[in-house]
Formats: sequence, C-alpha cells, structure tokens
Amino acid sequence: MVEHARKALIAGNWKMNLDHLQAIALVQKLAWTLKDRNFQSTTVEVAVFPPFTDLRSVQTLIAADKLDIGLGAQDLSRHDSGAHTGEVSGAFLSALACDYVLVGHSERRADHGETDEVCLAKVQAALRHKLTPVLCVGETAEDLEKVGAAAVPVSQLTTVLEGISADDEIVVAYEPVWAIGSGTPATAEQAEEVCSTLRDTIRNVHGDEAAERTRILYGGSVKSSNIAGLMRGANVDGALVGGASLDAEEFAAIAQFEKHVTVD
Ligand code: PGA
Repeated sequence: MVEHARKALIAGNWKMNLDHLQAIALVQKLAWTLKDRNFQSTTVEVAVFPPFTDLRSVQTLIAADKLDIGLGAQDLSRHDSGAHTGEVSGAFLSALACDYVLVGHSERRADHGETDEVCLAKVQAALRHKLTPVLCVGETAEDLEKVGAAAVPVSQLTTVLEGISADDEIVVAYEPVWAIGSGTPATAEQAEEVCSTLRDTIRNVHGDEAAERTRILYGGSVKSSNIAGLMRGANVDGALVGGASLDAEEFAAIAQFEKHVTVD
C-alpha cells in the first residue's frame, strides 16, 4: 500500500441525475453503508456533488445527522451577484455550507464553451467565497493522438495557476475526456504519469509547498474494481467519480479502496 502524502478525496459527481428526494435517499444509503462497513474517514474524505436543486436538502441532512460527507456544487457563476439570469453565485453555495465546487468539467467546456479564461474567473469566484474549486482538466481522444496525454491538461492548469496565488487552495481533477463515461479508464500508469506532470506544473508556477499540498484526483470510468490500482500512483490523491457515484454500495466501496472492497 502506497503511503499517501495527502488525505485522499473520493468525490461523487452526480451530473444531471437525481431530484432532491432521490438525493436524500442516496445520501442516507451512502451514510448507512459507510457506517455498516466501519469506514474511517481519517485517511479518506468523501464528498458528493449533487445538482443545484438538491443542495439545500443534502446540506440539511448532512447537518442534522452530522454526517462526515463533504458537499460540493457542479458549477458556479464567475460573477458574485446581479443581472445574470440562471446563474448561481459562489456566495449562495457558501451560504449552503458547500465545501467544494467543480470548475471546468469537460461537459461544461463542451456544452457551454467554457474556455480556460472562464475557468480561471470561476476559480477566482470560488476562492472569493471560501469554496475549494475542483478544477477539471483533461485531453480529448483527438488531443491524445495529436499531442499526447499531458499537453492539454498542463496548459489548462497553467492558465488557472497563473491567475491565482500559491496560497490559494485548489483541487485538480485529471479527467481524460475519452475515459469519461466510456467504461475505459486510463491505466494506473497513464493516470500517474499525467498527475505527476500536473504536480510538476504546480511546482514550476507556485513552488514546492503548493505542489506537495495540492490534491490531484483522477476521473473517468472509476469503479470499485479499478480504484485500488489507480490509487497506487504516488501522485493520484483520489478520484472524481461520475456514474459509479450514483450507486451507494459501489461508491462506498470506492471510498474503501484501501481495503480493496469491490462490488460486482
Ligand atoms: P464517469 O464520469 O465516472 O462516469 O466516467 C467522471 C466525471 O465525468 O467526472
């Protein structure tokens, strides 16, 4: 077992799934399952990222039952308030006790044309409101073929790092676009190689302390059957889990990667 330098983060990105009633049911089941299995949160942190409309319900449940589950949103506005119809301010997420917010998920980059500059503005907005941004970076299959795995994620990360300071707390999620929802994850070696290069990028821009402190997650077809291998990489500090986070048993098993728990 690799000793991890940083506390692992297992983050569930629900995407546009589950209304607020279904959200409550899933979080309750997740909490029971983790408890049943004697899950210890000392080395692994678990967080869920439900749709906006579920956040209040999930926050209330986490607070009422004192659950050791972090909460994040899937996006935020780069603005703080005002005439931006349909947007959600980081201030509102902060008021709902969100810990995290995803920024620049590949689905938002593709569906909403979010550029690296937009992602930087959103990361800055998150930091202004004391949220930890989880910046998603990753190459498409075409990028992979043309320029290799690391070039695009490194450039996406560099644009953001250059606009924030070394003390700012962010989480980076390396998500190869070709691995998302495809059932074909990157190999553990591929994930480690790019995560290690991303850590070097942080070191180059913000120095050793930031590089050692910052958590870098892998995302893309993570399951209970492949998480232990992925987590063996010294530079992989956790996972951003999509589809598999919608199943409480499976997500709990992923959080227990140290025990090699798998669900068939
Ligand atoms: P997946 O999604 O686990 O369903 O591949 C990961 C993500 O998009 O964050």
